[in-house]
Amino acid sequence: MIELHDPATFAAGIPHDLFAAMRAADGLTWTDAAPGDSKGFWSVTRHSDVVEVSRDTTTYSSAVGHIQIYDIDEDALDARASMIDLDPPIHTRLRRLVSSAFTPRHVQQYEVSIRQRVRRCLDELEAAGGGDWVKMVAAPIPIGVICDLMGVPEEDHDFMIELSDHLVAGTSNEPLDPNAYGNTTELRLLPFNSPAAFGMSEYARRLADQRRDEPADDLITKLIEAEVDGERLSDEEFANFFRLMIFAGNETTRSSMAHLAMHLDQFPDQFELVGENPDLLGSLADEVIRYSSAILYFRRTVTQPTQLGGTELAAGDKVVMWYAGANFDESVFDDPRAFRADRSQVPAHVAFGGGGAHFCLGASLARLELSILIEEILKRELRFDVGEPEFVPSNFVNGIEHLPVTVL
Ligand code: HEM
Repeated sequence: MIELHDPATFAAGIPHDLFAAMRAADGLTWTDAAPGDSKGFWSVTRHSDVVEVSRDTTTYSSAVGHIQIYDIDEDALDARASMIDLDPPIHTRLRRLVSSAFTPRHVQQYEVSIRQRVRRCLDELEAAGGGDWVKMVAAPIPIGVICDLMGVPEEDHDFMIELSDHLVAGTSNEPLDPNAYGNTTELRLLPFNSPAAFGMSEYARRLADQRRDEPADDLITKLIEAEVDGERLSDEEFANFFRLMIFAGNETTRSSMAHLAMHLDQFPDQFELVGENPDLLGSLADEVIRYSSAILYFRRTVTQPTQLGGTELAAGDKVVMWYAGANFDESVFDDPRAFRADRSQVPAHVAFGGGGAHFCLGASLARLELSILIEEILKRELRFDVGEPEFVPSNFVNGIEHLPVTVL
């Protein structure tokens, strides 16, 4: 059996050969249920199939079962529901509350503050002659940016990183302390079954109370004042929103930035190419995002009998879209395992999802952050001696926990 629910399969990064074999096989690939889970799942690894599933929210639901491989109970689904695990039309109404803050034009206004953050981190790394790239560069930039946008004060950014890390730990096999962060909720009711989700909700509630007393020009204030169908968000809905934004805005971009340092080490000619042709900056940023595929998969649940990639599916079947597989589909990408700064953007990679209602809300922001980081690295002509990466033990995120670098 293919152990796709086992984090160990991803211990050294994306299992490219495994995904290539799955893409080449007829139909979708079946994996039996993991111990403790009720049902096995179908794996979707071809680009066209990922796009088809992503764009059909009627046949492939995000609200049924769970968006991760293991099923959870109805009460647990209700307790954690945020826009990412809801279907239209309620998904559409929630997304509309924040979508205007993430348009390409709107995120451009953060350019100056992002650049300041990037420069500060690179200054410190250079002054120290190197260090842990994740701790010094890849982690603080995205959390700083998303916290600024939300309105989380600078002194709490490290706490948000810590909570985010603990959330991801819930996707590994590591045992978690159920009482951490003062948690009083059953773990099965919490996102990633992690007590850090409780910690983040409590923090969100406190911040919301502060903003009710003192409104500010930030997303938190916008969310507590927003109305959906004539009603304000409940405390729980607000906390779920907050958690999704912090986690999604932080963990993913951090992973791509961590991989970027490895790409710089492995493919220096591609970075030199952009130094000579700055017009390629955007496509290099997207190549980093494709190549790192920070989110390995999301799952949908089939709502009606259908056919996908040559396989008959029944209502209730789990369908797991392996973005990390589809992004290396040789029928779509020329020489997919090559890292190319000038790779065509048509068709698009699916690291942000295959399009449709749930397409990554923060795609423009993530692209901007990565472009600025690459630009500043090139300006300084920075080169590193890169040590061994320590991967996050997870089958859900392609994260790097630590990456030692020495500035050359
Ligand atoms: C390289 C960085 C990033 C990657 C690889 C990434 C990846 C993804 C993926 C795969 C999805 C699911 C798409 C789907 O189900 O069709 C998603 C959704 C989402 N992302 Fe990102 N993301 C990144 C950065 C960000 C940032 C910076 C934010 C900031 C707010 C963000 C916020 C979200 C939200 C809120 C959703 C849920 C959208 C919805 O359900 O409508 N992401 N992202």
